[in-house]
Amino acid sequence: MASGPEEERVRPPGVEDDDERPQLSAAAALALREFLEQRVEGEKGDGDKPELVAEDWRLSQFWYDDRTARELAAEVARLASSLPGAAAVACVACPTLYAYLKKTSPDVPAQLLEYDERFGRYGGDFTFYDYNRPEELPPAMEHAYRIVVADPPYLSQECLEKVAKTVSFLAPPEGSFLLLLTGEVQTDQALELLDVRPCGFKPQHSNKLGNMFRLFTNYDPADRLGGWDRSDGASI
Ligand SMILES: C[S@@+](CC[C@H](N)C(=O)[O-])C[C@H]1O[C@@H](n2cnc3c(N)ncnc32)[C@H](O)[C@@H]1O
Repeated sequence: MASGPEEERVRPPGVEDDDERPQLSAAAALALREFLEQRVEGEKGDGDKPELVAEDWRLSQFWYDDRTARELAAEVARLASSLPGAAAVACVACPTLYAYLKKTSPDVPAQLLEYDERFGRYGGDFTFYDYNRPEELPPAMEHAYRIVVADPPYLSQECLEKVAKTVSFLAPPEGSFLLLLTGEVQTDQALELLDVRPCGFKPQHSNKLGNMFRLFTNYDPADRLGGWDRSDGASI
């Protein structure tokens, strides 16, 4: 039988015939495919935006919009660089801030305290946290954070009281920089429980919320984040 062009094809040296290639077992091939898919998932962030998990509204998850997350991350990084040593940051129920901080300032040590176990993807930076058990946290975290940012899941006094206990647990006795993100309706309780005041900067969310949200701080950011809001009605 005359040999056709198929049979005449010459393999370059070093290139194996298909049959000679090492074959993966079905289990190994599946594991490899999952690994590659996860890697693509992790890299999907749009430019310098981190990849975020989908919001689960049953857990009161409402992610910041890009500008809000960026401005908060920049403020936290600035505070961290103003403190001696490697000032640790506790992100209490604010996973978007954690993700942006890690993307923009990876050297700032940050810990995410979260109820949603999907954030276990952050490995040792994730600590399971339920605000109903405000101080049920690893002993090593007690008084270990010079910067604490908290965004409680609910706009209730009960929730804020418990989160305030967590903040006291995390912050050292000499004090910490505290940033609280919550509804404007919590202004009086926030001052009473945490001694924080509203800033001019208004946090926004990717999906618009009906409630007006505010950023409260225990220090005056002055020319950043609109400084403390000294307009009529703000408790300064
Ligand atoms: C209002 S969202 C704040 C998220 C923030 N805007 C962000 O973009 O990172 C409240 C967070 O509280 C978390 N959460 C829900 N139930 C909780 C619970 N029982 N204890 C602690 N955190 C909880 C949610 O998973 C959610 O991330």
